[in-house]
Amino acid sequence: MAETMAGWARTHSCGDLRLQDKGKEVLVCGWVQRQRDLGQLIFIDLRDRTGIVQLAFDDGGAKDAELFRKAFTARAEFVLAAKGIVREREAKNPDVPTGDIEIEVIELRVLAKSETPPFEIVEDSPVKEDLRLKYRYLDLRRSDMQAKIIGRHKIVKAARDYFDSHGFLEIETPNLIKSTPEGARDYLVPSRVFPGNFFALPQSPQLYKQLLMLSGFDRYMQIARCFRDEDLRADRQPEFTQIDLEMSFVEEEDVMAIGEGFIQHVYQTVLGIEIPTPFPRMTWHEAMRRFGSDKPDLRFGLELIDVSEALKGTEFRVFAGALAEGGSVRGINLKGLAGKLTRKEIDKLTEWIKAYGAKGIAWTRLADTGESSSFEKFLSAEEVQAVRQTMDAQPGDVLLLVASPKNKVVFDSLGALRCELAKRFGLIDDSKPNLLWVTDFPLFEYDEDEGRYVAMHHPFTAPRETDLPSLESDPETVCARAYDLVLNGNEIGGGSIRIHDPELQNRMFQALGFSQEQAEAQFGFLLEAFRFGAPPHGGMAFGLDRLVMLMLGGESIRDVIAFPKVASSGELMTSSPSQVDEKQLTELGIQIRPSSDS
Ligand code: AMO
Repeated sequence: MAETMAGWARTHSCGDLRLQDKGKEVLVCGWVQRQRDLGQLIFIDLRDRTGIVQLAFDDGGAKDAELFRKAFTARAEFVLAAKGIVREREAKNPDVPTGDIEIEVIELRVLAKSETPPFEIVEDSPVKEDLRLKYRYLDLRRSDMQAKIIGRHKIVKAARDYFDSHGFLEIETPNLIKSTPEGARDYLVPSRVFPGNFFALPQSPQLYKQLLMLSGFDRYMQIARCFRDEDLRADRQPEFTQIDLEMSFVEEEDVMAIGEGFIQHVYQTVLGIEIPTPFPRMTWHEAMRRFGSDKPDLRFGLELIDVSEALKGTEFRVFAGALAEGGSVRGINLKGLAGKLTRKEIDKLTEWIKAYGAKGIAWTRLADTGESSSFEKFLSAEEVQAVRQTMDAQPGDVLLLVASPKNKVVFDSLGALRCELAKRFGLIDDSKPNLLWVTDFPLFEYDEDEGRYVAMHHPFTAPRETDLPSLESDPETVCARAYDLVLNGNEIGGGSIRIHDPELQNRMFQALGFSQEQAEAQFGFLLEAFRFGAPPHGGMAFGLDRLVMLMLGGESIRDVIAFPKVASSGELMTSSPSQVDEKQLTELGIQIRPSSDS
């Protein structure tokens, strides 16, 4: 039977002990990292979240056979409590903080045994992620994972401290809310009391935080859990956490200054890194034009070059077609890398880029071994010359071009290509965090699937005052009072100044294609609230998971979430989602339709 802690109290954590503790009687608890049996001597490395300490068991036979036997039978991941005396080690280990000492154990309790774990609990052991997630509680015992979860705690603590010291109140908002259109797909929760009716889980606390401004709380923050039923990527989870804030009587500059101060504070307190403010800014149009992205990574160059002008009279169908339909031809000059990017690799990139909607890549390689091109033979000598000149082509360069009737496709594909190339050729300057505000977003974008305009940010974002007359007549030209914060090419936050006037909010709903009745039915409570004295307000939300990942290192936000979901939005450890009892469904008035493929 497992022993207990009865009458025992831990005196130290494993990683805390040092040479100055020599001679002390201590009691430590933890997991067996490793047991080494040297015959007359057994060593056990005992681990807890603070580190590892060496337990030493000398020559059992003579002194304490029972103690020695226990140490002998201890295996990896057994849970032990050990009482003993700290002594200086004969063979010191400079690689661990406790390497000068060991504990000469006088009493040992085996608190729990362990089966052989499915993978070794060590940093960086090469284990498939699915297995790690199935046994997440074991994965989280690894020191690198512990460091990330502990770091996340420190970042959240720094956030609370910072916002508290700037007069923000942390206020919780509900998790069972009204489902509203717009944004991503909602997660729905059926109501038992109102059969056939549903709550939604919040995609963000957006409306509640605005209503808190109406209530006069002035400065709100919340570490808020958000839920969005959308396709997952490395930087997206169906439930994720925001550091959410809202402020009254403010303009863009006030919110951005608070946001910058927070980033500065969190880097300083958690990592000791000084970040200069103000952060650079770029308009959305400039970001798209130069980098093909609304979250440009400025740690490297590879800017997009527009060659449409150089090709305006071309007869080459691919380019001419794109230009005739209002699209463009743009490219990237991979300077001096012709020797490193082979024909074969370009062919692979041509396939790769199709995921972004491009038909392919038109390229020219100006290698030492000779020039080759996939498209120059279709152009006139003047056009070739004009393209090369526009792109500043020199011997050794590779020109990679994308043409499409849709500028969005050109931007998306080249924007992704430049990041891929920078990664591949090690062009990224990783020496310091690279922060950028992107501003002046369009208020609307056209949604082809829905056949209408949708809000690029959300329907509560205020249009720029001077653009108000164009709201109905020329919606595409209207600029939003919105700002996104970008860190190393990742969108880590976004927000806006909000509409606080019921008339304007109503106009916005109409512009988004809502009828008066639909607007009333969906957002009547908000329109009504705005009629009772709404202060001008604005705010933003930081993506906590992304911020933690970028600050602490990690391939995906799954690495910094204790219990994340996998790509199918399921959870491997508990096997959820799962079916429920017929009785539960009956209570909810729900009948499951057989799925079309079963
Ligand atoms: P937005 O939708 O831009 O704004 O979200 C704010 C930040 O949250 C992070 N984020 C995500 N992180 C992980 N997984 C996801 N699925 C995910 N989706 C978003 C991003 C993003 O910048 N209510 C507004 C904020 C406001 O206007 O104040 C909002 O939610 O880092």
